[in-house]
Amino acid sequence: MGRPASAEIEGLFHVAIVMDGNGRWATARGMGRAEGHRHGAHAVRRTIRAAPSLGITTLTLFAFSSDNWKRPQREVGTLLHLFGDYLRSEQVELRQNGVRLSVIGRRDRLPGNLVAAIEVCEAATARASRLHLRLAIDYSARGAILSAAESLATEGEPSVDSFRKRLGSACGTDTAPDVDLLIRTGGEYRLSDFLLWESAYAELYFMPRMWPDFEVSDLAAAVAEFHTRQRRFGALPADLPSRELGGSGDRKVPRRA
Ligand code: FPP
Repeated sequence: MGRPASAEIEGLFHVAIVMDGNGRWATARGMGRAEGHRHGAHAVRRTIRAAPSLGITTLTLFAFSSDNWKRPQREVGTLLHLFGDYLRSEQVELRQNGVRLSVIGRRDRLPGNLVAAIEVCEAATARASRLHLRLAIDYSARGAILSAAESLATEGEPSVDSFRKRLGSACGTDTAPDVDLLIRTGGEYRLSDFLLWESAYAELYFMPRMWPDFEVSDLAAAVAEFHTRQRRFGALPADLPSRELGGSGDRKVPRRA
């Protein structure tokens, strides 16, 4: 049997966020898009600081999709600089707050100084265990799935568990539990090639607020909404009255593959 879902392992809670709306936030204020990304970095800091107190144990943030290379070179440069600056300036705070950083995605197309900043920050925070923060940079879920499928084709028995492990190494990091709650800001309703395999049973939460305006109260509201959702993983609710089952009344307990 595959590894149980994170919410089924006592105490684990994986939240993933598509941080959308930086550009529109800036444009609405007569600023350049770069300014929106800079304000977005403040929202990232707030979110990471608040996550553990909301019970979040793994937080994956979509910082740069592999499709974002299609943006103007200047904007791409701004974003990559921002990531490097962020990792260099936050490293001490992350470690002090028990945050382990991993970057998922391809590294072979990133500038050398960013790769160096990633490696230093990952090493400096490797032993922290309060929150696993995963930044997705040059990340494509389809790309990761293809790499994992390639590696599975050359060796091993196909199973959900072995595929998950390969997916982890295809992303350049260790595996993380499946996503429990996926949040997207910015008023769009799509997944944009983010954690497609890992979000198979994620609860989805879309909100109109632009990412730079994302506050701790928004994260708390999303988490509160998550706790009201009934997760069934394709099975029947555990409290369904027997008369509604028909037949022998047998029921399977909901669990993820
Ligand atoms: C999507 O908004 C956001 C991005 C492509 C970049 C995300 C980056 C940050 C939040 C900056 C800081 C991150 C870290 C990790 C320090 P968009 O630009 O597509 O917005 P739009 O849809 O309004 O144009």
